This record gives sequence, C-alpha cells and structure tokens, in this order.
Amino acid sequence: MTAAEDRNDAPAYPVGLRLTGRRVVVLGGGQVAQRRLPPLVAAGADVVLVSPSATPSVDAMAAAGEIRWERRRYRPGDLADAWYALIATTDPEANAAASAEAEERRVWCVRSDDAEAATAWTPATGRTEGVTVAVLTGRDPRRSAAVRDAIVEGLRDGSLAAPQHRGRTPGVALVGGGPGDPDLITVRGRRLLAEADVVIADRLGPRDLLDELPPHVEVIDAAKIPYGRAMAQEAINAALIEHAKAGKAVVRLKGGDPYVFGRGMEEAEALAEAGIPCTVVPGISSSISVPAAAGIPVTHRGVAHEFTVVSGHVAPEDPRSLVDWAALARLRGTLVLLMAVERIGPIAAALVAHGRGADTPVAVIQEGTTAAQRRVDATLATVAERVAAEGVRPPAVIVIGEVVAVGERVTSGNQ
Ligand SMILES: C[S@@+](CC[C@H](N)C(=O)[O-])C[C@H]1O[C@@H](n2cnc3c(N)ncnc32)[C@H](O)[C@@H]1O
Repeated sequence: MTAAEDRNDAPAYPVGLRLTGRRVVVLGGGQVAQRRLPPLVAAGADVVLVSPSATPSVDAMAAAGEIRWERRRYRPGDLADAWYALIATTDPEANAAASAEAEERRVWCVRSDDAEAATAWTPATGRTEGVTVAVLTGRDPRRSAAVRDAIVEGLRDGSLAAPQHRGRTPGVALVGGGPGDPDLITVRGRRLLAEADVVIADRLGPRDLLDELPPHVEVIDAAKIPYGRAMAQEAINAALIEHAKAGKAVVRLKGGDPYVFGRGMEEAEALAEAGIPCTVVPGISSSISVPAAAGIPVTHRGVAHEFTVVSGHVAPEDPRSLVDWAALARLRGTLVLLMAVERIGPIAAALVAHGRGADTPVAVIQEGTTAAQRRVDATLATVAERVAAEGVRPPAVIVIGEVVAVGERVTSGNQ
C-alpha cells in the first residue's frame, strides 16, 4: 500500500462546527440540499444556495428567508469567504471545479457525487435530550444510519445508560483500567468513569479514555499530587478522601487490576478508615493480557500447568525481597515478571544459578496492547544483554518459559 492510500484509509477526524453567522455555500438545490439545509439553518449558518432550480421545500426555505438563493449555476469564486461548502449539483464538471476551488481556498467541502474527492464527510446525525449523535463509518452510510438509530433509540428508551446528573452517591471507585488499550477496561469501569466528577489516574492504564471525559470532570495525575513530607501513597489517599468528602463521585483509575501490585488495598483501607464507601472494579491485569497481546499463552496444555506472577522491583539479593527465587527456579511452568526491566540481569542470573535452564525462552513485551507495543525475544542467558541492546524501557512484562516458544509457532495476527 502506498503512503497516499494509507492516508486515505485513515479515519475521519470528528469535530462539531459552530457555524452561527458563518457563510456556508450550497451548490445545487436538489434532494441532497433539501436534506442538508435544515440542520445548517438550525446551526445558525449564513447559507447561500447557488442553483438554477430547487425543490419546493428548498424554495420554501428561501421564501421564508432562512437561506439566500442565487438562481444561477456555479461560478468560480463562489466559495470566497465560505467556511464550509456542500457540493451537490447534477453537473459533474461543476462539482469537480467547485471541489478544486474549495481545496485551493482551504474550505472544507462535502461532495454528494464523490465521497473520495471530498475533504469532509457528513455523519449520520440524530438528536435527543440535548445530545447530538453523529456517526461516521467511512464508506457505509447505511451502517452509520443504523448505528445512529440504535444510539438515539437506546438513549430515548433508557436501554443505553448515559447518566447526565451529578448527584450520585459520593464515594470512591477503585477501577482497574486494564493494560492500556482503552477497549480493555470493563464495562462497569467505563460506566463509573463516565459518571465521575473527579478521576485520579496513574501513568499506566487506558489514558486515552481521559481525553473522552467531559470538560467538567477534574482529572488528576496521581504522579503529580504534591506530597510534601507525606509519602506519595498517603498523599493519593488523602486526595481520594478529600474529594469524596466534598461529595464528589471519585474514580481512582489504575493500570491493570487494582489488587495486582497496584496498592489498591492500601487505598481501600484508608477509605474504610475515613468511613468512605469504596467500590472495587477488577481489571484485566497486564500479567496475563500483555503476554496474550504478544501471542504468548501463559499456560498451554502439555507445556505449562502453572504460571507465577512475580514483582521484580527489588533484586534477588536485596534484603527487602520477599521472593524465593530458588523455589521459583525449580518450577517448570511460566514465570511472569512485572517491574523487572531494571533488574533483569540479577534475576536471570539467580534463576540460572538455582537450576532453571540458561536456554529457557524469554520474551520481553514493552507497552503491551498499546500502539507502541514491541516484543524482544531472548533466553535466560541473553535477556539482560538483549534488554540493554534494544533499549527496552518500562513498562514491560517479561515472560519466562516454554510457552514463549509455543507462542512463536502461531502466527496469530496479534502483533
Ligand atoms: C505497579 S505494576 C501495576 C500492575 C497492574 N496493577 C496490573 O495488574 O497490570 C506496573 C507494572 O505492570 C506492568 N505493566 C503494566 N501495564 C503494562 C503494559 N501495558 N505493558 C507492559 N507492561 C505493563 C509493568 O511490568 C509495570 O512495570
């Protein structure tokens, strides 16, 4: 595929145009104009229709003063000062010329005869209870309309829950956001996020979802909470308590699962002590999902009957370590290491020293499930050197065991 084709396949960028008092030029007064003019008028646009003829409804709009109608064919220069253009004449040459003029003048233009040549597409739209629904599916207008109808209908009959009120039961939801891909949060987590007044988010997890939150939602980066002489975790606990006490619906959005190396229980305890209701929403842990996204099953029949998830944030010889590396080295199954990039050298050495084969396959997966995902393969003997040579950086999950080779046998299309 060429770069140009690649660009054509890119999804359209959705935007809401605020057209009040702004000049919009519509070329052609037929059925397309008849359908598109009312929403343009409703948006307050200053609509100029250029067309020798028009349908009775369009004619009536002109007669009512809702649009200005110039009864003639398109002429070069018609798009001067326009913010937006709808090209819908029955003359292909005029459409092409107007389209070229729009391009030259940097006026976004919709074309009824050639969607490919257009610089903008009209979504299927619907309105209900103050919500505008706009759906684009690229090249399938019928599907757009069907999706639009389903959403509008769902909002109307309540089968689609989209709360708009702000007076929910105060408290904190500890939400596991999954490994990073915004589609990998649970339905419950997503719903609570949509209802939040305040979101305190970690660096890991589905950060893209934060962009979708309405502007009134206060989004706080947990890493940036000032904590003075208090520990960072205590400062986060204090922020959760303070916002909940102020009557806000608070979501603590965490990467993966809140209770897998997530310090979720410390937060739940602090909230319980402060008498604040706390809901825990489990999340998809990176320990399983990141290997899967890289094509590695953490168990496989006849290969691994167990997998063990271990934190590598302290080295094996460190007196603070609670991990029995000698015992782990004796296991045949899969080891999944989190937070281990920086200490993979001593960890791999300890496993080999205690008996795990130096040729055991290892995969390091950085930023799994995100657009930046990458995988580096090695063995226990070579992993430290490969991680350094490839410049692997956290966050990464390290999978050790024969399952890594099993995954390699399958071209799964996951990567
Ligand atoms: C503090 S732990 C939190 C784990 C999280 N609660 C979970 O269940 O996935 C952070 C570590 O999780 C791993 N991790 C989380 N998200 C990841 C991702 N998208 N890709 C690779 N590793 C990830 C990395 O090992 C990272 O250092």
